Amino acid sequence: MINIAILASGTGTNARELLTKANSLPHINISLVITDTEGAGVIDIAKSFSKKAFLIPAKGLSKSEHEAFILKKLTHYKIDWIFLAGYMRILSSDFLNSFYDSKLKQNRVINIHPSLLPLFKGLNAYKQAFNSTEDKSGVTIHFVDSEIDTGKIIFQESFQKNKNFENFLSTGMSLEHKLYPKVLELLNTHALDNRYKGLL
Ligand code: GRF
Repeated sequence: MINIAILASGTGTNARELLTKANSLPHINISLVITDTEGAGVIDIAKSFSKKAFLIPAKGLSKSEHEAFILKKLTHYKIDWIFLAGYMRILSSDFLNSFYDSKLKQNRVINIHPSLLPLFKGLNAYKQAFNSTEDKSGVTIHFVDSEIDTGKIIFQESFQKNKNFENFLSTGMSLEHKLYPKVLELLNTHALDNRYKGLL
């Protein structure tokens, strides 16, 4: 069984899609959801799937203290992979190193970002992409490294930009919801590991 933790700070619609997909995959277990944000929608989503949801706020803690609390939970639940789904903190190199897989040569930490990376890294990527002169935008799923939105790309898919921001956003979110669960399918069959070990 592959044990996964989702880290999220907000609404949790991607977490919901991952949890839904995991229910149909025999080797994938999303063991828990961790959030840093009180009242985050993702807490109710986790509970609706009967999953453990832990609130670990950063207030009053140094970055390393906060990450140490998170790591303790991840270790306790024997987590193999972390999926970031709208997690609004940058993970330190020390934290990422504890999920380094020397065979994959990657950290076992994955993120979804709503732009065609390397374009529009960082915050408000939908706004950045919408306000740009690019006629396409898209969604990227990538390994997480110690810089912001620079890790190795796993999937990337584009869509034609729409003149109305609400429509643009909903097209992007639908694509996110379609793409992110596909990573679980790859993990379920070890296709992701094999791809990055150079076996496929
Ligand atoms: C998504 O747009 C994701 O790409 C970005 O943060 C947002 C989270 O949305 N990293 P949700 O909480 O999954 O609905």
